[in-house]
Amino acid sequence: MCGIVGYVGRKDAESVLTVGLQKLEYRGYDSAGIALLSSGEIEVRKKAGRIHDLINSLSSYPLPKAHIGIAHTRWATHGRVCDSNAHPHISQRGLFAVVHNGIIDNYSLLKERLQSEGYSFSSETDTEVIANLLEYHYLKEGNLLEAVLKAVKELDGSFALAILFKEDPNLIIGVRKDSPLVVGLGEGENILASDPVAVLPHTKKVVYLNDGEIVFVRKEGVEFYDFSGRRIEKEVKVLEYDEEDAEKGPYPHFMLKEIYEQPRVIRANLERYVRDRRPVMLRDLNLRKLLLNKNRILVVAAGTSFHAGIVGKYLLETYAHTPVEVEYSSEFSSRKLATDSRTLVIAISQSGETADTIDGLRYAKKHGLEVLAIVNRPESTIARESDYVIYTNAGIEVGVASTKAYVAQVLVLTLLALELGHVKGHIDDKELERLLDDMAGLPNQVEKVLALDSHIAHIAERIYKSTNVVFLGRGINYPTALEGALKLKEVSYIHAIGYAAGEMKHGPLALVDNKLPVVVINPRSSVYELTVSSTHEVVSRGGKVISVITEGDKRMAELSAFSIYVPSVPEPLTPIITIVPLQLLAYHSAVLRGVDPDKPRNLAKSVTVR
Ligand code: M6R
Repeated sequence: MCGIVGYVGRKDAESVLTVGLQKLEYRGYDSAGIALLSSGEIEVRKKAGRIHDLINSLSSYPLPKAHIGIAHTRWATHGRVCDSNAHPHISQRGLFAVVHNGIIDNYSLLKERLQSEGYSFSSETDTEVIANLLEYHYLKEGNLLEAVLKAVKELDGSFALAILFKEDPNLIIGVRKDSPLVVGLGEGENILASDPVAVLPHTKKVVYLNDGEIVFVRKEGVEFYDFSGRRIEKEVKVLEYDEEDAEKGPYPHFMLKEIYEQPRVIRANLERYVRDRRPVMLRDLNLRKLLLNKNRILVVAAGTSFHAGIVGKYLLETYAHTPVEVEYSSEFSSRKLATDSRTLVIAISQSGETADTIDGLRYAKKHGLEVLAIVNRPESTIARESDYVIYTNAGIEVGVASTKAYVAQVLVLTLLALELGHVKGHIDDKELERLLDDMAGLPNQVEKVLALDSHIAHIAERIYKSTNVVFLGRGINYPTALEGALKLKEVSYIHAIGYAAGEMKHGPLALVDNKLPVVVINPRSSVYELTVSSTHEVVSRGGKVISVITEGDKRMAELSAFSIYVPSVPEPLTPIITIVPLQLLAYHSAVLRGVDPDKPRNLAKSVTVR
């Protein structure tokens, strides 16, 4: 939610910042802006619309040459999407320019106070309050660090800030509380950003800010402070990503690239977590002890990660015999918990920065519960604040629609369930080895599904004009139906619902007519026959069935207007295979409808607001 970037060095700041914004565009894309400091003046250009709209406008209203500046790509929270609400925001006397990711909860109180001190405001945002608050304290204190400390202490809410100060042409200030911020350390240049992807073109050496930390970034070096003004030392880390990881390469969209990366992601996780036909996640004896001591698991997650959690529930209950509940993280933190110390919380998140899931994790810890995170991004808040972390190794996921991260989450949960089940004695060596051998075949099986791309694109041509699509699945593929529906609606804007196939007859069957496409996910499994019956109920009411079924399944094919055949895999592995055609179906539907699947309206990749 909102991307911020700041640069100081020898290069042309405008070009560094516009490239940085493009890398961060997945975080929000309803307006963008840049502030540069040149010849002692802060110059701002900002615009509602996409980053390319801002860049186009710069040719008719150019910025001066500069080597220092800050920039922002917005996902609106406070105030409409319009030029004046776009960031950066400038303080009344022009001393400070601020870009902000987060929400200031007490901004109206602060605004009223500043108004009574003579400040006026030209936007509806909470961010303009920060700029004026900094100026107010600076004019009173005459000391920059003191002014920053005083201002941040007054702010309630979440904020990552990049601040430009008119009186120092070699300084960007970064501040972090509950929104991510990283500094990239270059040679004679330094860069501040919401996400390392904006830093990668310049350096792999980074320092992650923690909550309650401030950084003064100059071209020669960086200084860190805590919110009490004490100098602190920070560890320098080296990014494991390469620049190409955050590039589209030959693909027209990140979403398609990431769908095609899934075989590689599966291989990476199998290499990391399986040795000599044994899963090795629980070789960490502390993690093993933790899981063995718990008799209940609560999964907290949002969106796609929530759906992975439901797959995890089926697997952990089946193999490890541990009861699992899965909850939306946004609901979890606002209810009373009936838990005890034997309850483990598993927080699942691709980004590790989802505010609702961070709240869930903190709420759990406040209640004395231990938290295991299943996270894609190392160094994310969720990874750092959890007691234990299992990484999903999917690499950088840029597309707003989560694809490869989901498959990685499901794979990791499968391995965890199998290993725990084996350690607890519920699965013998033979069954474990058989399933691991089958898992080793998954990358090739997923490649086979990807080879169906043009067939799936053809099916998309038949459904992309629909106003509604229903997805049905049962058992371990019920979450596949939920995830298939989420993918379709978020990237194509077609209304889609995912339903447990058996639940259809309890109401939603009333929706079925000869215009309704119904996607039935029914690979060979223990619930196959029951799902065939549900399909009959749809077909006999005129519904047009698109089925995702096991190769050679003629019975389901006869009931279907279109069939997508996936390779035969054991039931617990089917969710990894069946989701892939649904991702492609959503992708092609979006493209046919003229929607950019990487940047669907109203959404952003990393939801850092509550
Ligand atoms: O980064 P997280 O996994 O915590 O994100 C959770 C959701 O915001 C995310 O899965 C969202 O639903 C995606 N847009 C789904 O494609």
